Amino acid sequence: MLRNCLVFIAALGLACSCASARELKEFDNDVNYDESRIPHYDLPDPLITAEGKPVTTAEQWRNVRRPQILSLFANFIYGAVPVPPEPIEQTYKVIKEDKAFMDGKATKLDVSIRFKNRKGAVQTHVVVFIPNDAKEPAPAFMMLSFDSPRGTSLQLSSSRKGRLRNGVPLADLIANGYGYVSVYHGDLIGHNEVSFGRGIHKLFFRDGQSFPKAHEWGVLGANAWTGMRALDYLETNDRIDASRMAVMGHSKMGKATLWAAAQDERFALAISAQSGCGGAALWRRKYGETMAKLNRFPHWLSINARKFNDREDDLPVDQHMLLSLIAPRPVYVASATADTWADPHGEFQSANHAAPVYRLLGKKPLSVTKLPTANKPLLDGDIGYHIRTGGHSVDPYDWDQFIQFANRHLKR
Ligand code: GCU
Repeated sequence: MLRNCLVFIAALGLACSCASARELKEFDNDVNYDESRIPHYDLPDPLITAEGKPVTTAEQWRNVRRPQILSLFANFIYGAVPVPPEPIEQTYKVIKEDKAFMDGKATKLDVSIRFKNRKGAVQTHVVVFIPNDAKEPAPAFMMLSFDSPRGTSLQLSSSRKGRLRNGVPLADLIANGYGYVSVYHGDLIGHNEVSFGRGIHKLFFRDGQSFPKAHEWGVLGANAWTGMRALDYLETNDRIDASRMAVMGHSKMGKATLWAAAQDERFALAISAQSGCGGAALWRRKYGETMAKLNRFPHWLSINARKFNDREDDLPVDQHMLLSLIAPRPVYVASATADTWADPHGEFQSANHAAPVYRLLGKKPLSVTKLPTANKPLLDGDIGYHIRTGGHSVDPYDWDQFIQFANRHLKR
C-alpha cells in the first residue's frame, strides 16, 4: 500500500505538480483494492465477430476477427499510427562498437536510428549487446526501457557481477545464447508528452496539424513504434536473428510491449512485466489503477480512450483480447504480490481469458484458471505466468523465469 501510495504520488506529480497532499489522499482513497468490491462484468468474446458471427477456424481469426480487434485497440485505446504525409527515410549508423565488453564475452553496439522527411528529423539511440561466441545469429531480448543510453544504467555493475547497472543479468543472457537490446522510451516522445512538437509525431502531421487526432497515437503508441523500428534495424544486423526476438518491458513499457507485439508479428515472443492498467490487467475489474486514473497522463493512450473513463463496461475490447492478438506466438505475463496498483489478479485473468484464441490456433494456454500461489511459475504452455512475492520491479527471479520461458520457445 505504501509503495502504491508513493509511486502514485510520484507519478501524479509528473502530471500535476501542484496537487495538494489532501487532493492526493482523496484520490488514493478512491482506489479499489478489495476483490469483493469488483463490479460484475462480462468480457467481450474474442471469438465473436463485430457482426455477431462465431469464429471457428484459424482462417476466420486471421482474416476477420484479428484485424477487427487490432483496429479497435488502435482506434479506441492506444491510437492508430497515421500514414505520414510523405515517406519517412529511416537510416542506421553504428556510433560506437566495443568488441570486448564484459571480458570479451559480448560486443556492445551503440546504434543511431534516424527518421527524416520534409516535416523534420529525429533520432533514437539503441544499444545492442551480442554474444561473441555465438556460432549463428543470436536470438535476443529487446527491452523497451526507461534506461537512457546516455546514462550509466547500461554499464556493467561493479557490485553485482555479470549484471548491468539496471539489474539486467547480461552474463546469464549471453550464457544462454541471447543478445540484449535496449530501446529507450524517451528519444521520440516525452514520458508525459503534452505538446507533440519535438518528437516523432511531427513527421506524421498533415500540413496545419500540430496535435494527434482523437483516434491517433499517443505516447505508448510511439513507444511501441520505436521498438518496431529497432527491430527493422536488427533485421539488417547479421549477428542477431531478428526472427527470434523476445520483446519485453516493465510497467509503462510493459504496456507498450504488448501493443508492439500485438501489431508487429515479427516479434517472436512477448513478456509483460507488471504492465498493469493499459497493459495486461483487465479494465473491467477496476481494481488498482483504472482508465480514468491512467488518463491523468493525458496522452499515454489516445484521446478517444478518455471516453471510457469510469465507463469501462462500454469498451469494445478488454485486455485479454490484446494478449489474444499475440497468438499463436508465446506470451508471458509477470505480476508481483505487493504490486496491487497494477492489479496482479487482473493481469492473470487476462492471460487466462486469452485461452480460447490460443486453443483455436492449436496452442497451449495456461493450465489453471485460478491465480496460482506466489513463486510457482506456469512455464509449460504458450501462455506463461507467474506472480512472485514482492513489489514493482524486475527482479532476478523474474529474469530466471523469462529466460526459461524463452529457452522453451526461441532455442532451435
Ligand atoms: C505509474 C502509472 C502506471 C505505470 C507506472 C510505471 O504508476 O500509473 O500505469 O505502469 O507509473 O510506468 O512505472
